[in-house]
Amino acid sequence: MQNLIKLPGLIDVHVHLREPGATQKEDFQTGTRAAIAGGYTAVLDMPNNPIATVTPQALQEKINLATGKIYCDVGFNFGAGSKSVQYFPEVVDKVFGLKVYMNQTTGDLLIEDEIALEAVFSGWPKNQVVMVHAEGDTLQKAIALAKKFGNKLHVCHVSLKAEVEAIKSAKQTGMKISCECTCHHLFLTDEDVKRLGPYGMMRPPLSSKEDQQALWQGITDGTIDMIASDHAPHTREEKEGEKPAYGVPGLETTLPLLLTAVKDKRLSLDKLIDLTYTNPKRVFNIPDQPDTFVEVDTTIRYTLDAERLYTKCRWTPFAGMKVTGKVKKVVLRGQTVFDGQNIFGPYGQLLTP
Ligand code: NCD
Ligand code: ZN
Repeated sequence: MQNLIKLPGLIDVHVHLREPGATQKEDFQTGTRAAIAGGYTAVLDMPNNPIATVTPQALQEKINLATGKIYCDVGFNFGAGSKSVQYFPEVVDKVFGLKVYMNQTTGDLLIEDEIALEAVFSGWPKNQVVMVHAEGDTLQKAIALAKKFGNKLHVCHVSLKAEVEAIKSAKQTGMKISCECTCHHLFLTDEDVKRLGPYGMMRPPLSSKEDQQALWQGITDGTIDMIASDHAPHTREEKEGEKPAYGVPGLETTLPLLLTAVKDKRLSLDKLIDLTYTNPKRVFNIPDQPDTFVEVDTTIRYTLDAERLYTKCRWTPFAGMKVTGKVKKVVLRGQTVFDGQNIFGPYGQLLTP
């Protein structure tokens, strides 16, 4: 029995497309093809490339490289570097958010210095989002800075119970704060790291069962606003090397995993749409995509298989997991861009707020 339903084109605000500088992992073409196959019609690209997106020149280079090559719509997030504050006025209407790395992760955008952080938070326009990578105790620092300077704060990849609680209290004080969590934190725990080895390593790391339960609870009670993939591909060689790179791909597994949660009654379909479309669109001011939708069959049961992925890295930490729900068709501005087997395009456009 088939059961086809229509969803809006999904929006992912946290994607690492890796071009320029790390195209052995992914590029604009392969990454946006993976997005389309996963049911996403708009993604926001992150700035932590080897030459980081912290200057207008680096942003312009991405715009030039992406033009004519993207299968879904792409917008950019700018990076906060110790010297990038001077460029904020120039780039602000070309990007959707400012990403601030307050903990160590892939790339060299870490900012810990209090004075530098104050300059960043005070310099970014207050109607635009500051996205923070702020794990554990660092989150309190981010909340305090955003309160002090009146920023719209978005917390990336929440993974701990204490973080969910901190965000819940901040929301209760009326602060402008939103957050995302990822499917790897919702569907895997630290117990999976033994089995997955480097393929289960990312920032923030997989957390405990108790943390995982707090994330599901945070979704139910509205503390968690959206789901982002944090699509962070690395090659198998980079994963299996002496110092494994942190990060996992996620664009093609997020929707099937969430549809499976709907089937298992852990999530309603309305909630799925809030988490992957309505809330990211509202918080990040993503423009409308007319005549755009995704058709999924909610009854097809299958095993997630790395061989079928469009991402250049061709692996997933969810390989072997049974899911129910498959993308059958994606339509972007009236054009079929995926028919369940083939991708057509590139018909993606660059997005500005
Ligand atoms: C990301 C990457 O590889 O760019 N890695 C990760 O583990 N999540 C960076 C990030 O989002 O922290
Ligand atoms: Zn990331």
